[in-house]
Amino acid sequence: MGKKIITIFVVVAVLLSLLFVALHYFFLSDRKYDPEQVRFIPKLRREFWQETPPMGWNGWNKFRCDPALNEKSFMRIADLVVETGMKDAGYTYVNLDDCWQIARDEQGNIIVDAKRFPNGIKYLADYVHQKGLKFGIYTSGGSVTCEKRPGSLTFEARDAQTYANWGVDYIKIDWCGIEGADTYTQYKAWRSAIDETGRKMIISIAIANIDHVENRHAWIWGRELAGIWRTAIDIQAYWPDVLRVMDKNSLYAEYSGRGGWNDADMLQVGNGMTYEEDKSHFIMWSMMASPLLAGNDLREMSEETRKILTHKGVIALNQDPLGVQASMVRQENNTQVWMKLLQYKGRRAVALLNRSEQPQQITFRASELGLYDLMYITDVWQNKDVGFRFKEYAVVVQPHDTAIFTVQGIDAVDVVQFPVLPRQVRTGALLDQEHVWQERAELDESESQGDDKALQAHLYSDIRYHLGGVCKNLRVTLQAKREYMGPNSAVRFRIYGDGSLIYKSEYFTEQSAAKTVEVDVSKVRVLNLVVNPRDPSLQEAQIGLWINPYIICE
Ligand code: GAL
Repeated sequence: MGKKIITIFVVVAVLLSLLFVALHYFFLSDRKYDPEQVRFIPKLRREFWQETPPMGWNGWNKFRCDPALNEKSFMRIADLVVETGMKDAGYTYVNLDDCWQIARDEQGNIIVDAKRFPNGIKYLADYVHQKGLKFGIYTSGGSVTCEKRPGSLTFEARDAQTYANWGVDYIKIDWCGIEGADTYTQYKAWRSAIDETGRKMIISIAIANIDHVENRHAWIWGRELAGIWRTAIDIQAYWPDVLRVMDKNSLYAEYSGRGGWNDADMLQVGNGMTYEEDKSHFIMWSMMASPLLAGNDLREMSEETRKILTHKGVIALNQDPLGVQASMVRQENNTQVWMKLLQYKGRRAVALLNRSEQPQQITFRASELGLYDLMYITDVWQNKDVGFRFKEYAVVVQPHDTAIFTVQGIDAVDVVQFPVLPRQVRTGALLDQEHVWQERAELDESESQGDDKALQAHLYSDIRYHLGGVCKNLRVTLQAKREYMGPNSAVRFRIYGDGSLIYKSEYFTEQSAAKTVEVDVSKVRVLNLVVNPRDPSLQEAQIGLWINPYIICE
């Protein structure tokens, strides 16, 4: 009898404590992650322009400069944003891209193509606003747009005021018709011009020809100016191209977050790829917290396409308030496991992407998500609970398709360290430590360096280290690599801390002597070393050397 009572007592005690742990975990504890901690670049220097990635529609991917996109069809498409349920799903912006403008008048005011838009642009913006939607427009920071229409160079203030008068909410600013100018300075001029008007308008930085522009790394410096910034050259409605853009965009995951977002470009869903490809494209853009700007003709949208574009569960991942861009946790046989931290503690989105040409079983494991073994899994696409699973879960995924789940578990690691944030550096030679990402740079192993160790940095290179806010001082010697400099070439070194320029060198030519600099890096979490040319049109290799970088940390 006594034994039985004890057993009952123990069982009840165990159950009560389990209940307590569960209650505590789900109701009593602070259940959300702190966005300031999981996000990589800590502070926003401006008010939040874009709390979550913008959603909307843009005509470019389907129409380019085709006059079929005119006042009538544009307004019809705005109607359809509402009628198809896209507005309810979160699509807000209806945006005109290039080719709405044809010239400037004598005062410099932009002239609208009256054949296509007989009642002008304000008429369109008003129409869109009446529907509870917002209106976006396109221009270029250069003298012409990418389609050779008049650009905004030297007309920034005038154009910003015109757009404000029209009721524009969103300005995509391209980078065509401009050579040699500094991107940051130009976009900053735009920001000031817009602020002067007093109207809130988001900037979309569209440095699209991204591999050939000096200081093109808008993900480093764009946050204080813009709501979104492009990370790759224009997307085509073609599966390998979607993967190209995705791979490129994923290199900059840490720069995206509340207020400013990596823009993997507008969607090609409904523009000719297969159902699986469209679905994967949409899921991955959502996982990457990229803007979701539909780019298809809504007047001929199939039900299949509509279902992809309005999938509530997937959109919720894109709009998750924590604002973390997914990162890839593992790849095997041309299949990939991607994870996105979500706002609730222990919750993740997991995408299983099959890039190959055969159906494949793809597994994900609790441990690679930073969780203890017990997981509660939900299939997001089918909106169905899978239930509890232990340690791992596997499904078969069709070629070019993606399976998408949410997982609720319990954190086994501190997510501030994992898995979004790579290893921090310590006091010592930087070149002996793990860098986070190195683009167009490699260790210089040429004999001429003697005992020195240098990173040889090609034009537009970007070398990134995680200092985590605990380092104080960086010392580095700068020099152009002589054998790679032609008579006219010159390179400049830039150092950024959390997106702010903290050091900019003079130009180094083949004659310049090496120069050692010391830079204060206190409080900096992300450090970027960037090398740019003076004359981007020169064909010479032009290489800068970061010699013996040495960092002092706490
Ligand atoms: C490109 C841009 C496209 C589109 C086009 C218009 O540079 O990446 O998205 O805006 O210009 O000419």
